[in-house]
Amino acid sequence: MTFNRKHLLGIRDLSAEEITHLLDTAETFRDVSRREIKKVPALRGRTVINLFFEASTRTRTSFEIAAKRLSADAVNISVSTSSVSKGETLLDTARNLEAMAPDCIVVRHSMAGAPHHLARMCNAPIVNAGDGSHEHPTQALLDALTIREHKGRIEGLNIAIIGDILHSRVARSNVYLLTTLGANVRVAGPGTMVPAEFAELVDQGLRVEQRIEDAIEGADVVMILRIQRERQDAAFFPSMREYAVHYGLHPSHLERASPDVIVMHPGPINRGIEISSEIADGSRSLILDQVTNGIAVRMAVLYLLARGNHSVPAEAGAKPPGSTGNGKKVRKGTKA
Ligand code: CP
Repeated sequence: MTFNRKHLLGIRDLSAEEITHLLDTAETFRDVSRREIKKVPALRGRTVINLFFEASTRTRTSFEIAAKRLSADAVNISVSTSSVSKGETLLDTARNLEAMAPDCIVVRHSMAGAPHHLARMCNAPIVNAGDGSHEHPTQALLDALTIREHKGRIEGLNIAIIGDILHSRVARSNVYLLTTLGANVRVAGPGTMVPAEFAELVDQGLRVEQRIEDAIEGADVVMILRIQRERQDAAFFPSMREYAVHYGLHPSHLERASPDVIVMHPGPINRGIEISSEIADGSRSLILDQVTNGIAVRMAVLYLLARGNHSVPAEAGAKPPGSTGNGKKVRKGTKA
Protein backbone atom coordinates (compact mmCIF):
# COMPACT_ATOMS: atom_id res chain seq x y z
CA MET A 1 0.00 0.00 0.00
CA THR A 2 1.23 3.50 -0.84
CA PHE A 3 -0.43 6.82 -0.16
CA ASN A 4 -0.98 8.22 -3.63
CA ARG A 5 -2.55 11.56 -2.69
CA LYS A 6 -0.80 14.79 -3.43
CA HIS A 7 -2.60 16.68 -0.65
CA LEU A 8 -4.20 15.91 2.72
CA LEU A 9 -7.31 18.08 2.77
CA GLY A 10 -9.72 15.99 4.80
CA ILE A 11 -10.67 12.53 6.01
CA ARG A 12 -14.01 12.31 4.21
CA ASP A 13 -12.60 11.09 0.90
CA LEU A 14 -10.03 8.69 2.35
CA SER A 15 -10.55 4.93 2.23
CA ALA A 16 -10.02 2.63 5.21
CA GLU A 17 -6.78 1.42 3.59
CA GLU A 18 -5.45 4.96 3.20
CA ILE A 19 -6.27 5.85 6.82
CA THR A 20 -4.70 2.62 8.08
CA HIS A 21 -1.59 3.26 5.97
CA LEU A 22 -1.25 6.76 7.48
CA LEU A 23 -1.63 5.31 11.00
CA ASP A 24 0.85 2.48 10.31
CA THR A 25 3.36 5.00 8.95
CA ALA A 26 2.87 7.20 12.03
CA GLU A 27 3.55 4.18 14.24
CA THR A 28 6.90 3.66 12.55
CA PHE A 29 7.82 7.29 13.33
CA ARG A 30 6.72 7.20 16.99
CA ASP A 31 10.00 5.65 18.03
CA VAL A 32 12.05 8.60 16.67
CA SER A 33 10.74 10.90 19.42
CA ARG A 34 11.85 8.40 22.11
CA ARG A 35 15.49 8.35 20.96
CA GLU A 36 18.29 10.43 22.38
CA ILE A 37 18.90 11.95 18.94
CA LYS A 38 15.37 12.69 17.71
CA LYS A 39 16.09 12.98 14.01
CA VAL A 40 16.01 10.89 10.84
CA PRO A 41 17.22 12.04 7.42
CA ALA A 42 13.95 11.17 5.60
CA LEU A 43 13.23 14.73 4.33
CA ARG A 44 16.74 16.18 4.25
CA GLY A 45 16.84 19.03 1.73
CA ARG A 46 13.04 19.52 1.76
CA THR A 47 11.25 22.64 2.96
CA VAL A 48 7.94 22.76 4.85
CA ILE A 49 6.07 26.06 5.29
CA ASN A 50 3.56 26.46 8.14
CA LEU A 51 1.01 29.10 7.16
CA PHE A 52 -1.37 29.63 10.08
CA PHE A 53 -4.11 32.27 9.77
CA GLU A 54 -5.63 31.14 13.10
CA ALA A 55 -4.17 30.66 16.56
CA SER A 56 -2.60 27.32 17.38
CA THR A 57 -0.36 25.82 20.04
CA ARG A 58 -0.41 22.05 19.42
CA THR A 59 -0.84 21.80 15.65
CA ARG A 60 1.65 24.44 14.58
CA THR A 61 4.32 23.40 17.05
CA SER A 62 3.99 19.72 16.26
CA PHE A 63 4.13 20.30 12.48
CA GLU A 64 7.33 22.28 13.03
CA ILE A 65 8.83 19.63 15.30
CA ALA A 66 7.72 16.86 12.93
CA ALA A 67 9.42 18.58 9.97
CA LYS A 68 12.63 19.09 11.98
CA ARG A 69 12.67 15.48 13.21
CA LEU A 70 12.53 14.45 9.54
CA SER A 71 15.50 16.81 8.85
CA ALA A 72 13.36 19.13 6.68
CA ASP A 73 13.73 22.91 6.93
CA ALA A 74 10.61 24.28 8.66
CA VAL A 75 9.50 27.87 8.13
CA ASN A 76 6.68 29.41 10.18
CA ILE A 77 4.79 32.34 8.71
CA SER A 78 3.27 34.58 11.33
CA VAL A 79 0.26 36.10 9.62
CA SER A 80 0.18 39.15 11.90
CA THR A 81 3.69 40.18 10.78
CA SER A 82 3.33 39.03 7.15
CA SER A 83 2.04 41.04 4.19
CA VAL A 84 -1.44 39.60 4.87
CA SER A 85 -1.69 42.53 7.33
CA LYS A 86 -1.23 44.83 4.29
CA GLY A 87 -4.14 43.23 2.47
CA GLU A 88 -2.45 40.46 0.47
CA THR A 89 -4.88 37.67 -0.36
CA LEU A 90 -4.59 34.06 0.73
CA LEU A 91 -3.91 32.95 -2.85
CA ASP A 92 -1.28 35.63 -3.52
CA THR A 93 0.39 34.79 -0.22
CA ALA A 94 0.49 31.08 -1.09
CA ARG A 95 1.70 31.71 -4.66
CA ASN A 96 4.53 33.94 -3.42
CA LEU A 97 5.54 31.33 -0.88
CA GLU A 98 5.37 28.69 -3.59
CA ALA A 99 7.78 30.73 -5.71
CA MET A 100 10.37 29.89 -3.02
CA ALA A 101 9.97 26.18 -3.90
CA PRO A 102 8.64 24.60 -0.69
CA ASP A 103 7.94 20.86 -0.75
CA CYS A 104 4.80 21.20 1.36
CA ILE A 105 2.56 24.00 2.68
CA VAL A 106 0.63 23.39 5.90
CA VAL A 107 -2.30 25.77 6.20
CA ARG A 108 -4.82 26.66 8.90
CA HIS A 109 -7.54 29.13 8.00
CA SER A 110 -10.88 30.24 9.44
CA MET A 111 -12.58 29.76 6.05
CA ALA A 112 -13.87 26.25 5.29
CA GLY A 113 -12.38 25.18 1.97
CA ALA A 114 -9.33 27.47 2.05
CA PRO A 115 -6.84 24.56 1.78
CA HIS A 116 -8.89 23.04 -1.08
CA HIS A 117 -8.71 26.37 -2.91
CA LEU A 118 -4.92 26.46 -2.52
CA ALA A 119 -4.62 22.83 -3.65
CA ARG A 120 -6.38 23.70 -6.91
CA MET A 121 -4.25 26.78 -7.54
CA CYS A 122 -0.78 25.79 -6.27
CA ASN A 123 1.67 23.06 -7.21
CA ALA A 124 3.02 22.31 -3.74
CA PRO A 125 1.33 19.59 -1.65
CA ILE A 126 -1.13 21.22 0.77
CA VAL A 127 -1.96 19.90 4.24
CA ASN A 128 -5.13 21.08 5.94
CA ALA A 129 -4.26 21.98 9.55
CA GLY A 130 -7.88 22.99 10.23
CA ASP A 131 -10.29 24.93 7.99
CA GLY A 132 -13.11 26.73 9.79
CA SER A 133 -15.69 24.29 11.10
CA HIS A 134 -14.98 21.87 8.25
CA GLU A 135 -12.13 19.39 8.85
CA HIS A 136 -8.97 18.87 10.91
CA PRO A 137 -7.62 15.65 9.41
CA THR A 138 -4.35 15.32 11.33
CA GLN A 139 -6.24 15.75 14.63
CA ALA A 140 -8.52 12.81 13.75
CA LEU A 141 -5.49 10.74 12.74
CA LEU A 142 -3.66 11.44 16.00
CA ASP A 143 -6.85 10.65 17.93
CA ALA A 144 -7.15 7.34 16.06
CA LEU A 145 -3.48 6.54 16.69
CA THR A 146 -4.03 7.18 20.42
CA ILE A 147 -7.14 4.97 20.52
CA ARG A 148 -5.36 2.20 18.62
CA GLU A 149 -2.37 2.44 20.97
CA HIS A 150 -4.56 2.00 24.06
CA LYS A 151 -7.33 -0.26 22.78
CA GLY A 152 -5.49 -2.19 20.06
CA ARG A 153 -8.18 -1.50 17.47
CA ILE A 154 -10.85 0.94 16.28
CA GLU A 155 -13.40 -1.45 14.76
CA GLY A 156 -16.30 -2.33 17.05
CA LEU A 157 -15.42 0.21 19.77
CA ASN A 158 -18.18 2.39 21.25
CA ILE A 159 -17.00 5.98 20.94
CA ALA A 160 -18.90 8.97 22.35
CA ILE A 161 -18.14 12.44 20.97
CA ILE A 162 -19.68 15.14 23.17
CA GLY A 163 -20.09 18.88 22.97
CA ASP A 164 -20.13 21.55 20.30
CA ILE A 165 -20.36 19.19 17.30
CA LEU A 166 -21.71 21.87 14.94
CA HIS A 167 -18.64 24.10 15.03
CA SER A 168 -16.06 21.36 15.50
CA ARG A 169 -13.77 20.37 12.62
CA VAL A 170 -12.32 17.83 15.04
CA ALA A 171 -15.72 16.14 15.43
CA ARG A 172 -16.36 16.11 11.69
CA SER A 173 -12.99 14.54 10.82
CA ASN A 174 -13.31 12.06 13.68
CA VAL A 175 -16.82 10.98 12.70
CA TYR A 176 -15.65 10.32 9.13
CA LEU A 177 -12.52 8.46 10.25
CA LEU A 178 -14.04 6.39 13.04
CA THR A 179 -17.10 5.27 11.06
CA THR A 180 -14.86 4.42 8.09
CA LEU A 181 -12.80 2.15 10.37
CA GLY A 182 -15.95 0.51 11.78
CA ALA A 183 -16.43 2.10 15.21
CA ASN A 184 -19.88 2.65 16.73
CA VAL A 185 -19.92 6.43 17.10
CA ARG A 186 -22.44 8.35 19.20
CA VAL A 187 -22.50 12.13 19.18
CA ALA A 188 -24.26 14.22 21.85
CA GLY A 189 -24.66 17.93 22.34
CA PRO A 190 -27.35 20.59 22.55
CA GLY A 191 -29.85 20.03 19.71
CA THR A 192 -28.74 23.34 18.20
CA MET A 193 -25.16 22.08 18.01
CA VAL A 194 -25.53 18.80 16.09
CA PRO A 195 -25.33 19.29 12.30
CA ALA A 196 -28.20 17.95 10.18
CA GLU A 197 -25.70 16.40 7.71
CA PHE A 198 -24.86 13.71 10.28
CA ALA A 199 -28.25 12.09 9.65
CA GLU A 200 -26.78 10.57 6.45
CA LEU A 201 -24.17 8.71 8.52
CA VAL A 202 -26.70 6.88 10.70
CA ASP A 203 -26.50 3.71 8.57
CA GLN A 204 -22.70 3.81 8.89
CA GLY A 205 -22.66 3.42 12.66
CA LEU A 206 -23.41 6.97 13.85
CA ARG A 207 -25.99 7.58 16.60
CA VAL A 208 -27.16 11.06 17.53
CA GLU A 209 -28.14 11.48 21.22
CA GLN A 210 -29.56 14.46 23.07
CA ARG A 211 -28.34 13.43 26.53
CA ILE A 212 -24.67 13.02 27.39
CA GLU A 213 -25.62 10.04 29.62
CA ASP A 214 -27.07 8.10 26.68
CA ALA A 215 -23.98 8.67 24.55
CA ILE A 216 -21.64 7.56 27.36
CA GLU A 217 -23.53 4.35 28.25
CA GLY A 218 -21.05 1.49 27.60
CA ALA A 219 -18.55 3.78 25.85
CA ASP A 220 -14.95 2.57 25.42
CA VAL A 221 -13.82 6.07 24.47
CA VAL A 222 -15.26 9.45 25.48
CA MET A 223 -14.08 12.37 23.36
CA ILE A 224 -14.96 15.83 24.69
CA LEU A 225 -15.01 18.88 22.44
CA ARG A 226 -14.19 22.47 23.22
CA ILE A 227 -16.91 25.09 23.00
CA GLN A 228 -15.89 27.03 19.89
CA ARG A 229 -16.88 30.49 21.09
CA GLU A 230 -14.94 32.11 18.24
CA ARG A 231 -17.24 30.47 15.67
CA GLN A 232 -20.58 31.26 17.32
CA ASP A 233 -22.44 34.24 15.98
CA ALA A 234 -25.62 33.37 17.91
CA ALA A 235 -26.57 31.89 21.28
CA PHE A 236 -26.71 28.10 20.94
CA PHE A 237 -27.38 27.48 24.64
CA PRO A 238 -28.67 29.76 27.43
CA SER A 239 -25.41 30.22 29.40
CA MET A 240 -22.01 28.67 30.03
CA ARG A 241 -23.21 27.60 33.47
CA GLU A 242 -26.12 25.69 31.98
CA TYR A 243 -23.89 24.17 29.31
CA ALA A 244 -21.50 22.96 32.04
CA VAL A 245 -24.41 21.43 33.98
CA HIS A 246 -25.93 19.55 31.01
CA TYR A 247 -22.94 18.82 28.75
CA GLY A 248 -19.86 19.12 30.97
CA LEU A 249 -18.15 15.79 31.74
CA HIS A 250 -18.01 14.91 35.44
CA PRO A 251 -16.70 11.78 37.22
CA SER A 252 -20.25 10.45 37.81
CA HIS A 253 -20.81 10.26 34.03
CA LEU A 254 -17.97 7.78 33.65
CA GLU A 255 -19.74 5.26 35.91
CA ARG A 256 -21.96 4.52 32.90
CA ALA A 257 -19.03 3.90 30.57
CA SER A 258 -16.97 0.76 30.08
CA PRO A 259 -14.76 0.12 33.18
CA ASP A 260 -11.60 0.78 31.12
CA VAL A 261 -12.96 3.86 29.35
CA ILE A 262 -10.42 6.40 28.10
CA VAL A 263 -11.11 10.15 27.92
CA MET A 264 -9.80 12.41 25.16
CA HIS A 265 -9.93 16.11 24.32
CA PRO A 266 -8.19 17.83 21.38
CA GLY A 267 -7.33 20.93 23.42
CA PRO A 268 -7.32 23.68 24.34
CA ILE A 269 -9.47 22.79 27.35
CA ASN A 270 -12.09 25.00 28.95
CA ARG A 271 -11.67 23.56 32.44
CA GLY A 272 -14.89 23.36 34.43
CA ILE A 273 -17.03 23.96 31.35
CA GLU A 274 -16.85 20.96 28.99
CA ILE A 275 -14.64 18.83 31.27
CA SER A 276 -13.86 18.83 35.00
CA SER A 277 -10.23 19.15 36.05
CA GLU A 278 -10.61 15.91 38.00
CA ILE A 279 -11.15 14.02 34.73
CA ALA A 280 -8.79 16.09 32.57
CA ASP A 281 -5.91 15.42 34.98
CA GLY A 282 -7.08 11.94 36.02
CA SER A 283 -5.85 8.46 35.20
CA ARG A 284 -8.30 7.89 32.33
CA SER A 285 -7.25 11.04 30.50
CA LEU A 286 -5.08 10.63 27.38
CA ILE A 287 -5.03 14.32 26.54
CA LEU A 288 -1.25 14.63 26.65
CA ASP A 289 -0.77 11.27 24.87
CA GLN A 290 -2.80 12.79 22.02
CA VAL A 291 -0.33 15.68 21.85
CA THR A 292 2.63 13.29 21.79
CA ASN A 293 1.05 11.23 19.00
CA GLY A 294 0.50 14.43 17.01
CA ILE A 295 4.22 14.51 16.27
CA ALA A 296 4.25 10.97 14.84
CA VAL A 297 1.12 11.58 12.75
CA ARG A 298 2.48 14.83 11.33
CA MET A 299 5.82 13.19 10.59
CA ALA A 300 3.93 10.51 8.63
CA VAL A 301 1.86 13.06 6.71
CA LEU A 302 4.86 15.24 5.84
CA TYR A 303 6.94 12.21 4.89
CA LEU A 304 4.25 10.81 2.58
CA LEU A 305 3.51 14.17 0.91
CA ALA A 306 6.78 16.14 0.91
CA ARG A 307 9.14 13.44 -0.34
CA GLY A 308 7.58 13.79 -3.81
CA ASN A 309 7.03 10.97 -6.38
CA HIS A 310 3.23 11.31 -6.41
CA SER A 311 1.67 9.16 -9.06
CA VAL A 312 -1.64 11.02 -9.19
CA PRO A 313 -2.58 14.36 -10.73
CA ALA A 314 -2.33 17.55 -8.66
CA GLU A 315 -6.08 17.90 -8.31
CA ALA A 316 -6.54 14.50 -6.63
CA GLY A 317 -8.00 15.01 -3.17
CA ALA A 318 -8.63 18.69 -3.87
CA LYS A 319 -12.39 18.42 -3.70
CA PRO A 320 -14.05 21.40 -1.96
CA PRO A 321 -16.11 20.86 1.21
CA GLY A 322 -19.72 19.95 0.57
CA SER A 323 -19.02 18.05 -2.65
CA THR A 324 -19.95 14.37 -2.82
CA GLY A 325 -17.41 11.57 -2.35
CA ASN A 326 -15.48 9.94 -5.16
CA GLY A 327 -17.10 6.54 -4.72
CA LYS A 328 -13.86 5.03 -3.42
CA LYS A 329 -14.66 5.47 0.24
CA VAL A 330 -14.91 2.29 2.31
CA ARG A 331 -17.10 2.57 5.36
CA LYS A 332 -18.30 0.20 8.04
CA GLY A 333 -19.46 -3.14 6.73
CA THR A 334 -17.54 -2.70 3.50
CA LYS A 335 -14.39 -4.68 2.96
CA ALA A 336 -11.39 -2.42 3.42
N1 CP B 1 -6.12 20.57 18.81
C1 CP B 1 -5.66 21.68 18.18
O1 CP B 1 -5.86 21.86 16.96
O2 CP B 1 -4.99 22.54 19.00
P1 CP B 1 -4.35 23.92 18.53
O3 CP B 1 -5.49 24.84 18.14
O4 CP B 1 -3.56 24.42 19.70
O5 CP B 1 -3.49 23.64 17.33
